[in-house]
Amino acid sequence: MSSPCTMQPMYTLAISALILPLLTAANPSNVFTLSPNLDAPLGVSNAIANDFISISIAIHWFQDYAREGQGSQPNEFSRNLLQSLADSTSLPPRIRIGGTSADRTTYIPTQQDPILTVAGDNGIPVNVTLGPLWFQQCFDPANFPDGTRFTFDLPLVRNDSLALNNTLTGAGWALNAIGKERFDAFEIGNEEDLYTSQGVVPSSWTVKDYVERWRTFSRSIQEKVLSPAGFEADKKWFQGLVFAGLGNIPAWTTATAFNAGVDEDGFIKSVSLHNYPVGSAPWVTLGRTFMNHAAIVANLSQVIDDIAFLGSSQSTQNIDFILGETNSDFVNLNMAQFEGVLGSALWTIDYILYGAYLNIKRMNIHQGTTFGYAAWQPVAVNDKQPQVRAPFYGLKFAAEALGRHHGSTQIIPIDVGEAHLSTYAIYESKELARLAIVNFQEWNATDGPRPSDELRLDLGGTRRAVRTRLLTAPAGASADSGLTFGGIMWNFTTGGLPARVPDIEGERTVKIDRDGIFRVNIGASEALLISVEE
Ligand SMILES: *[C@@H]1O[C@H](CO)[C@@H](O)[C@H](O)[C@H]1NC(C)=O
Ligand SMILES: *[C@@H]1O[C@H](CO)[C@@H](O)[C@H](O)[C@H]1NC(C)=O
Ligand SMILES: *[C@@H]1O[C@H](CO)[C@@H](O)[C@H](O)[C@H]1NC(C)=O
Ligand SMILES: *[C@@H]1O[C@H](CO)[C@@H](O)[C@H](O)[C@H]1NC(C)=O
Ligand SMILES: *[C@@H]1O[C@H](CO)[C@@H](O)[C@H](O)[C@H]1NC(C)=O
Ligand SMILES: *[C@@H]1O[C@H](CO)[C@@H](O)[C@H](O)[C@H]1NC(C)=O
Repeated sequence: MSSPCTMQPMYTLAISALILPLLTAANPSNVFTLSPNLDAPLGVSNAIANDFISISIAIHWFQDYAREGQGSQPNEFSRNLLQSLADSTSLPPRIRIGGTSADRTTYIPTQQDPILTVAGDNGIPVNVTLGPLWFQQCFDPANFPDGTRFTFDLPLVRNDSLALNNTLTGAGWALNAIGKERFDAFEIGNEEDLYTSQGVVPSSWTVKDYVERWRTFSRSIQEKVLSPAGFEADKKWFQGLVFAGLGNIPAWTTATAFNAGVDEDGFIKSVSLHNYPVGSAPWVTLGRTFMNHAAIVANLSQVIDDIAFLGSSQSTQNIDFILGETNSDFVNLNMAQFEGVLGSALWTIDYILYGAYLNIKRMNIHQGTTFGYAAWQPVAVNDKQPQVRAPFYGLKFAAEALGRHHGSTQIIPIDVGEAHLSTYAIYESKELARLAIVNFQEWNATDGPRPSDELRLDLGGTRRAVRTRLLTAPAGASADSGLTFGGIMWNFTTGGLPARVPDIEGERTVKIDRDGIFRVNIGASEALLISVEE
């Protein structure tokens, strides 16, 4: 069994005055019962990959996550946070480097600076230029937990006579820097279904045009870069599609791309689509929009058709389906009150666990230094110190929920008949191992005492005790600091290492009551992880 801190040294903080005592109502406002199957029931997910929780980083921010001191040395703060996720699941998150900025990148052999950018809207540069030093520094193995694997996104948007030459240069440099052991795949292009609306292709551009250009580029990369380096064509080195929409543009789906022949060369190992449920529409709120299990189910269920399509024929059934760039909100600036708070961490947990249930193969949760939904800010920005942000706690909780088992891990949601409660059972080698409960009732400390629900857990008398860990923050749903999970925090002041916070309850052992029931409370805007291993 894993604890969040077995692998890393842990600080005990002397100062706890910053953390207010928990305000939990004495009388729970609501009681619900849970009698999960002790053995994996019908309808449980497929086995979940240990690196299901992976990350994506916008290419223009990758250096910040990898290095500090203007690229001069490994970013140990980032590495410790990544290692913390790896400790939970036994495998480090895979890293996909890409995005719109990757599609706008030029590789310049004579550039001395690692990276130069020309600023653009929404935190995304209009032009990125990379020199050889960027590759050398950013892919230094010392930057990442051992075993970290990479997917690298190359440009497809350009259609001038030097475009392919540029993409081949990037492919060669990336492959050389990443190396055979750590290389997963190339992507080519980013969100090609949005090219027409961005005015970067003629308005007549269709999925057929995309397929034609993608095949020209992928064949050339295979022939001129991959094969000479010993990466044989039949082993598949490409992650395809990377469309922005989960089928909201009917002409651009997994089915239309494959029907247009995108995999006629047999190069595609995985299909990636991107998903962000919303943008900055005036009706967006934390409670209704993000702390909302029904909305998460509706959003993610759009992948069912894509997964079914891939499963429906022999030529596609071994292709993995991935959400290769995803997070809460595609507007990544000035939305931190919805994207970077405890309520967003609860969204992250539910989104990840439901995605695992739907048999998505991996989710790359998108990151950028200044993005409102970033799990951490890896380097100082102006006078703002690096910091761990609330969504990190969502990643860590979800990682602990999925765990580090080496047999099959499977998950199934359990409907407890309360719209604000999202509940999952997690099975290891078919036996119940954990329960995860997210309480989406939106609450702030300014609202008065924290309401709570009482869970009555019935395990048929098979266990004498269970262990619980709570994700909470005294200030409630809108808290962007003071978060703890099982009494542990991650902070820049401890270099991103876990630290036990005194005066906050840590892992708790709950004994069975006389009537054979375990009783635990879970407050509004909190998540609880229950371990039932014997
Ligand atoms: C980006 O900048 C580089 C270097 O100045 C230049 O060669 C390239 O044409 C620019 N690309 C775009 C798309 O503006
Ligand atoms: C790109 O073009 C330059 C100039 O013609 C050439 O020297 C270089 O080898 C080309 N690079 C690739 C990867 O084909
Ligand atoms: C690509 O460039 C060619 C030649 O400049 C042009 O005829 C064609 O329309 C362009 N295609 C797209 C899809 O941009
Ligand atoms: C996705 O979630 C958002 C936010 O709750 C909601 O407005 C939107 O309708 C959802 N989209 C789908 C297709 O379910
Ligand atoms: C955690 O880090 C923040 C800065 O990101 C700092 O203000 C705060 O004091 C730290 N908390 C503790 C308990 O060290
Ligand atoms: C919680 O507090 C935030 C920030 O003060 C506020 O925007 C939000 O409306 C509050 N929500 C509730 C349910 O009180």
